Amino acid sequence: MRLLIKNIQELFGTFESNPGTIKGLEMNKFPSLTNAWLAVEDGFIVDYGCMTDWPGITDWADLTIVDAEGKMVVPCWCDSHTHTVFAKARSLEFEDKINGLSYEEIARRGGGILNSAHAMSLTSEDQLFEDAISRVKKMMLNGTGALEIKTGYGLDVENELKMLRVIQRIKSSSPIPIKCTLIIGHALPADYHSRMDDYIQMLLEQLLPKAQEIGFDFLDIFCERDYFQVYHLEKLLLKSKELNKPAKIHVNQFYSIGGVDMAVNHSALSLDHMEVISDQDWVALKDKPTIVTGLPGCSLFTKIPYTPMRKLMDENIPVALATDFNPGSAPSSNMNLINSLACIQMNMKPLEVLTASCQNGAAAMQIDELTGSITPGKIANFIITKPLERLSELFYFLGEDNIDQVYIKGNPLR
Ligand code: NIG
Ligand code: FE
Repeated sequence: MRLLIKNIQELFGTFESNPGTIKGLEMNKFPSLTNAWLAVEDGFIVDYGCMTDWPGITDWADLTIVDAEGKMVVPCWCDSHTHTVFAKARSLEFEDKINGLSYEEIARRGGGILNSAHAMSLTSEDQLFEDAISRVKKMMLNGTGALEIKTGYGLDVENELKMLRVIQRIKSSSPIPIKCTLIIGHALPADYHSRMDDYIQMLLEQLLPKAQEIGFDFLDIFCERDYFQVYHLEKLLLKSKELNKPAKIHVNQFYSIGGVDMAVNHSALSLDHMEVISDQDWVALKDKPTIVTGLPGCSLFTKIPYTPMRKLMDENIPVALATDFNPGSAPSSNMNLINSLACIQMNMKPLEVLTASCQNGAAAMQIDELTGSITPGKIANFIITKPLERLSELFYFLGEDNIDQVYIKGNPLR
């Protein structure tokens, strides 16, 4: 199966080899070629070039040519933070929110993660799988070509393992790379009231070994004033090192309590949320490889500050963008909305957004050898836009469908 896209107005992300994590000023230099072609073979990118150097075609067997006149081609979005497996929407809480309650107030009234955990315990594995796989399909149609999915709504051993099995099933039945994160401490179940240490210990001793049998890629904990504390995070980070399962941490969503320092000093892969960053955190982040993942969909929906992406980039700290798709704080799985919010609310430039949502998103899942840029040898996951005058229009027409076609492993989806 061979595919040649021709007359591309601008082809973005043209790196000859995998650039790894990109930071600082380099983020605004995501390379491109105008008036370009892109060649794909057996699901992989094999070459690209300018139309002035059109490849001489001698063998037409099995070759499809697609004309992209006036359109842009960008790598598919790499969404490195989602909670795509959940049992039920939380639209009643949405109504509470409209009536003025905050995310934390709703959680204190028994809503929030505990509400999702209750629904999770009542839902069968097959049902969870069916619901989640149709969400993944929708995400792919919106241009997502790689995805991380977390556990964390099970809370007890039985239901966390159920979630994990569902994620593994999604992994093996989806055409896109999917990475799985095990959350050790998302919210404290009622039967562990005032026994937070016992709860974390139980998860480490009883859940973790069984989870290893099923398989997962990363570890996570919700480190926050009203949730889990820095010394719980430390325990998790030590486990992460011991098991060689990199840590992706929910941290600094509402308060800075010392988690950033602890996590970067243990070489966490990514720090996600980071809406609040203290002076001490800025010092800790300096010159570290840890990626900060901004989740503007959560800021929009819960009306909390936006992660200071502009300053992070100016300080040369690597950043990625993700949806945080979940039924409580970020109910949109659409990376196009995230990218528009990043421009509007975080003052990110269009090329910086591409870097953060493609290459750095892939790096935040450790799959940048496979995807995230238009590089020979990477999988052919890319988006052809509708005709656009310039890249910024892809984010400027917010809430519109600016995508003409999505290719996954070289196959058109729409
Ligand atoms: O990333 N902050 C913790 N976890 C999720 C929210 C989960 C929920 O409310 O269901 C988040 O925002
Ligand atoms: Fe999250």
